[in-house]
Amino acid sequence: MRFAILLYSVLTCILVSAVKFQPLSEKPGLVDNGTFGPTLEVVHLFQKEPPIGITISKSGRAFVTFNRGDLAENPITLGEIVSPTEEVAFPSAEFNTPPEGLVNTSSGRPLGSSDSKHFINVQAVVIDSRERLWVLDTGRPVVDGDNLLAALGGPKLMGFDLESNSTIPFTIITFPEDVLPPTGYLNDVRFDLTSSLTSSGKGVAYIADSGGFGIIVVDLGTGKSWRHLDKLHSVSPRSRFLPTLFGIPTYSSTPMSPALHYENAGGGGGIDGFAIGADGKHLYFTPLASRDLYRIETAPLLVNPAEDKLAFIRAANSIQYLGEFGGQADGLETDSAGKIYLSSPEHNSINTFDPSTGLVSPFVRSPIIAWPDTLSVADDSFIYATLNQLWLSPGFQNGTDKRVKPFALVRAKIDGQKVKLG
Ligand SMILES: *[C@@H]1O[C@H](CO)[C@@H](O)[C@H](O)[C@H]1NC(C)=O
Ligand SMILES: *[C@@H]1O[C@H](CO)[C@@H](O)[C@H](O)[C@H]1NC(C)=O
Ligand SMILES: *[C@@H]1O[C@H](CO)[C@@H](O)[C@H](O)[C@H]1NC(C)=O
Ligand SMILES: *[C@@H]1O[C@H](CO)[C@@H](O)[C@H](O)[C@H]1NC(C)=O
Repeated sequence: MRFAILLYSVLTCILVSAVKFQPLSEKPGLVDNGTFGPTLEVVHLFQKEPPIGITISKSGRAFVTFNRGDLAENPITLGEIVSPTEEVAFPSAEFNTPPEGLVNTSSGRPLGSSDSKHFINVQAVVIDSRERLWVLDTGRPVVDGDNLLAALGGPKLMGFDLESNSTIPFTIITFPEDVLPPTGYLNDVRFDLTSSLTSSGKGVAYIADSGGFGIIVVDLGTGKSWRHLDKLHSVSPRSRFLPTLFGIPTYSSTPMSPALHYENAGGGGGIDGFAIGADGKHLYFTPLASRDLYRIETAPLLVNPAEDKLAFIRAANSIQYLGEFGGQADGLETDSAGKIYLSSPEHNSINTFDPSTGLVSPFVRSPIIAWPDTLSVADDSFIYATLNQLWLSPGFQNGTDKRVKPFALVRAKIDGQKVKLG
């Protein structure tokens, strides 16, 4: 008996002692070197604010957005890149400076400004197939780590003519409250100028509302808008979603709402990654707090539920679950070859989804890719990504800002072209 115990402890001792091991680096595939795919070029460094939206014109002009909550600290919410390290206000400093400020406190409770003639807090910029620049303003400035609720008029979609460099938008579209609630957050937008289904025939914009959880459709001819999929599971955050970033499980949490950020009025968590298929027949989307990919047919979305009550159910019934894609995604993008690009903050990568096979494949990965946010394919056949370290911002770090400047804009060559509908 005693001998057995002695033998056992000797064996145990041997079992847990260090052994010689060949370095895994000599065994291809067994060490994660953090990279794959084509060359990733860093094309711009942001010395001040973390970038969000990005779009590049045919002639190579680059426009970028910055979230903000304070005019003095962040004078620019929409900028044009003018050198490898500088951005200037677009279309002017004046447009980026609402005379009455970003916040309206006149009703007692602070709200975003209702100024629809100046930028409050621009999120997305997209150049359409006619080289027009569209600017999506959430109207919700960031105060104490959270976005204030929106007031009517502040959230808007504005179109600018890049050929004439006009500083005056050719259109300003605002949203009634039944289309965009005060908790709504205009996150991303895609265009189909070929769509003949709307009454005007001038095309449509589709907008992802990541704060109110839904899709907004805009008839660009009339400026009329309507809402679909309101708070359905497929456009809403997953409860208790926990991503792992740079190896660290990371809750969205502020001192006000530890680990429950996605359940308050903050500007995130719902449908966020958003892109239109090359033929304009589907929109691809994913809630930020999820690892699920969906698509929906555009045809039923084009019916205004005010004119046909059954439009809601037809739109909801056309949602297709395309499966998990192995990580959360902030930005989605499509190309002319039909590929769907998925920004993957959990993997420091951009992956692709092929609708013809239903499979996700690796595309490009690098330790430099610290929270790829917006993805945008340009006419030069590069896919561009803003890298903004979002998970190190106060909303994920219990009120502390752990981001490290500078932030970056990167690009990688792709086989396809920019999707042009119109
Ligand atoms: C990193 O690993 C990948 C996958 O094993 C390989 O394709 C790539 O060549 C490696 N890169 C470097 C720089 O070693
Ligand atoms: C501020 O709010 C008041 C009342 O709620 C409104 O009349 C005014 O137009 C608002 N101003 C701005 C710039 O939002
Ligand atoms: C618009 O601005 C761009 C960039 O500054 C310039 O190259 C272009 O010539 C301008 N176009 C007009 C019509 O002024
Ligand atoms: C988060 O911050 C609050 C207030 O600053 C503090 O009371 C709390 O302990 C912090 N939580 C964690 C997990 O650090």
